Amino acid sequence: MRIAVLCSGNGTNFENIVRSVTQHEVVLMLHNKEKCGAAKRAEKFGIPHCHISHKDEHLMIMTLNAFRIDLIVLAGYMRILSPKFIQSFDKIINVHPSLLPKYKGANAIEQALDSGDDVTGCTVHYVTEELDSGEIILQSKVPIMPDDDIKSLTKAVQRREYGILPDAINLIGDSLETVQRVETTV
Ligand code: GAR
Repeated sequence: MRIAVLCSGNGTNFENIVRSVTQHEVVLMLHNKEKCGAAKRAEKFGIPHCHISHKDEHLMIMTLNAFRIDLIVLAGYMRILSPKFIQSFDKIINVHPSLLPKYKGANAIEQALDSGDDVTGCTVHYVTEELDSGEIILQSKVPIMPDDDIKSLTKAVQRREYGILPDAINLIGDSLETVQRVETTV
C-alpha cells in the first residue's frame, strides 16, 4: 500500500510507522503545523512532506490524490476532517489515546486520569463522519498506576500505540491482498 500520514505535532507515531511498517511504503506526510517535530522526522527519512493548512482541505485532497494513496493514517492529527474529505478516500484510520468509546475527542489521557479508572489504553479505528466512532481495528489496554501523572501515562499509552498502529496497518494490507487474490482467481 501507498500510505500518507497526517500529523500536527511531534510525529513519534509517524516515525514509528516509517521504521516498522516494512511491507508498505509511507510516500507522503502532510502536517498542519508549520514547524512541527513530524516535519523534522520526515526530513530525516527523506519522505516527501508538506505543510497544508487544515482550512485548505481541497489542496489536501488534490495532493493526496496526486500521490495515489491507498491508506491515510491520522497520527496525532488534531483537526476534525470534513465529510467531504472523509468521503473522498477509501481508507482513513486514526490512533486515539483511550479505550474508545470512552473519552472521545481532546484530552483523552487527562480524562482517564481524572476519572479514577484503573485502566486506559489506545485504539486504532476507521475514520467516519462521527468523531472517534468508526469501526475499531485494534485496541490495547494500559494499567493506570497510583503514582501516574499525565507525563508518565502519556508515555505508557504511546508505547502501546507504537505496537498497535503498525499492526493495524499490516492487517489492512493483508486483507487488501486477500481481496486482490480472490479477484484474480474468479
Ligand atoms: C498520539 O498519542 C495520539 O494518540 C494522539 O496524539 C498523539 C500524537 O503523538 N492523538 C489524538 O489525541 C487524536 N485525538 P505523536 O505526534 O508523537 O505521534
